[in-house]
Amino acid sequence: MKNTPFDLTGKVAVVTGSSRGIGRSSAELLAKLGAKVVVSSRKAEACKEVADGINAAGGDATVIPCNIARRAEVEALISGTIRHYGKIDVLVCNAAVNPYYGPLLDITDEAFDKIMGSNVKSNIWLSALAIPQMAERGNGSVIIISSIGGLRGSTVIGAYGISKAADFALCRSLAGEWGPKGVRVNCIAPGLVKTDFARALWEDEANLKRRTATTPLRRIGEPDEIAGAVAYLASDASSFMTGQTIVIDGGVTTAAP
Ligand SMILES: NC(=O)c1ccc[n+]([C@@H]2O[C@H](COP(=O)([O-])OP(=O)(O)OC[C@H]3O[C@@H](n4cnc5c(N)ncnc54)[C@H](OP(=O)(O)O)[C@@H]3O)[C@@H](O)[C@H]2O)c1
Repeated sequence: MKNTPFDLTGKVAVVTGSSRGIGRSSAELLAKLGAKVVVSSRKAEACKEVADGINAAGGDATVIPCNIARRAEVEALISGTIRHYGKIDVLVCNAAVNPYYGPLLDITDEAFDKIMGSNVKSNIWLSALAIPQMAERGNGSVIIISSIGGLRGSTVIGAYGISKAADFALCRSLAGEWGPKGVRVNCIAPGLVKTDFARALWEDEANLKRRTATTPLRRIGEPDEIAGAVAYLASDASSFMTGQTIVIDGGVTTAAP
């Protein structure tokens, strides 16, 4: 990968929620492309397994646990990364929550606040802590894992969709604010991907059948199929791209009904 715009040698990346799923695939691919990677989630043990795998394959990874809902832990993640690796070039805001499944108007204040806190406010905390030191070097990339749930309505995960739509707006505003300093901010909007997070959706056979029938590629996605876009946005290959969203959904949002 050396001498290609996808080479991440010398870059330091933080990936929240990287003990499994999309975050794990992303951390592993960034490391393969040469980045030093901080693997993070609430559970240190699960992260250690991922970091050990990266290190055993000749990469450089370390673990800093962090619950993204807790400001002190987010601060410790960013300051701990800078202490360990000296800087952050790539911030992947991947972890998110969805504690509520049902009609939007029945949601409790507590569940709504939890969704907005973890999926939106936490991305502001992470960005506020990581972006200024990127700007000092005139270079950096922030990648927010949003969702096609933010692009269209849902009768069961409406609040989650609101939070993911807010991430698009957050990305556009941060792109405008920090572009002049060389920091890029982009979103990825995955469709249904086979991870624990979406288990309820793909384990339900009727739902899976309906979904794949309306998806041009006739299947749901795998975490590795999102990681490639994370690597692209992290690298110089995307150096003229900011404030945008890459939709990776097997075509489901483009399909004729
Ligand atoms: N899967 C899909 O169909 C799909 C579709 C569109 C968008 N997305 C988005 O993709 C992102 C990743 O989801 P995924 O599908 O890869 O989920 P996943 O496989 O369930 O992984 C979630 C990761 O986040 C961590 N995590 C959960 N709550 C956390 C918290 N409060 N603080 C820190 N880490 C936390 C988990 O580890 P711990 O349990 O150890 O904390 C785990 O590492 C999310 O932003 C999600 O909204 C997913």
